[in-house]
Amino acid sequence: MSVVTDLLARLDGIGRDPRGGWSRPGFGEADLGLRAWFAEQATALGLDVVPGRNGDLWAWWGAPGPDAVVTGSHLDSVPGGGRLDGPLGVVSALVAVGRLRAAGFRPARPIAVVVLPEEEGSRFGVACLGSRLMTGALRPDDARALRDADGTALADALRAAGVDPQGIGRDDAALARIGRFVELHVEQGRALADLDAPVGIATGILAHGRWQITVTGRGDHAGTTRMPDRADPVVAAARVVLAVEAAALAADGARATVGRIDAVPGGTNVIASRVEVSLDVRAASASAVRSVLARIEEDGALAAALSGCAFGIEQRSWSDEVVFDPALRAALVDLLGDVPQLPTGAGHDAGVLAARVPTAMLFVRNPTGVSHAPGEDAAQADLDAGVDALEAVVRHLAA
Ligand code: GLV
Ligand code: MN
Ligand code: MN
Repeated sequence: MSVVTDLLARLDGIGRDPRGGWSRPGFGEADLGLRAWFAEQATALGLDVVPGRNGDLWAWWGAPGPDAVVTGSHLDSVPGGGRLDGPLGVVSALVAVGRLRAAGFRPARPIAVVVLPEEEGSRFGVACLGSRLMTGALRPDDARALRDADGTALADALRAAGVDPQGIGRDDAALARIGRFVELHVEQGRALADLDAPVGIATGILAHGRWQITVTGRGDHAGTTRMPDRADPVVAAARVVLAVEAAALAADGARATVGRIDAVPGGTNVIASRVEVSLDVRAASASAVRSVLARIEEDGALAAALSGCAFGIEQRSWSDEVVFDPALRAALVDLLGDVPQLPTGAGHDAGVLAARVPTAMLFVRNPTGVSHAPGEDAAQADLDAGVDALEAVVRHLAA
């Protein structure tokens, strides 16, 4: 077993979901366990662990910033996710930095490994919560008002994690310390497998928005309400989902997903009074996402009306398309040779940070191409190749 495989295996017992995969919502028990594990590992490597203002955790080699070389990723997961989305970037960063220390490397600038919280937005609905707060893309008042599905406020979850909710918000001091940020991540598609390459460099990220659709009908009795008399929002929501699919299929390369449907109040013998439907839309440009959304709004309202229901929609998060820093990307290409360069449809903290600091991403081949599901995978040799690449990059940038 290689060091990276061994470290990942130690995390496998944390946040396993009995339904399959791993569920590690931000600031939940599993995530807090992983964060504690990170602090222990980093301390054992001789790094100084310093909490940030937004639930971010930093492990420093050398006095914090400026012009630091920063690498890392996230530890939270989607519900029932894979074992690599997030933790691979953190574990690879620790191993790469550990190797540089063991080799006696003397960095000319500070190096840090960072963990950014609630990247998936699985608990509080906003993707890349920590990096959005840090960059000012999310206002602290809006963040403090967020609640999870159980009604727990973000402010309370932060407090329970030892983070002062009054201290969250744009953190220019933290950003000023970052000279370059490099995030390693498992690839979330099959591009590297098809190209027969263990490691790739990201070019950019699709534009991406999240919305909450509410289909409102009329709650009633399953046995006494004749079929023509119903305004059943579950039937309306089924039509809305088909409208979502049709809107994405009509737009070249767009993706639209309904991942969650909650019938409220939810009873076998109850016609629901409303249905909450999540919506995730991605496309090559912000305008392409907006035009898919416009079609969903129009056709969704018509689809809901067919069942006598009302259609409402609210935006939960927005990300413009991202192009990673060309100069940093060119430096990585010089260093790593002829490795593939590829765009991704997955969101990342690196994409949010790219608005403020030069940022790059390395991808590690995923033979299944599956992600956000337990089938996500990487061969041991490719995990090692990823660490080799990250070590070379950090060494080069910090020299
Ligand atoms: C996160 O991985 C996302 O793309 O939603
Ligand atoms: Mn993810
Ligand atoms: Mn991720």
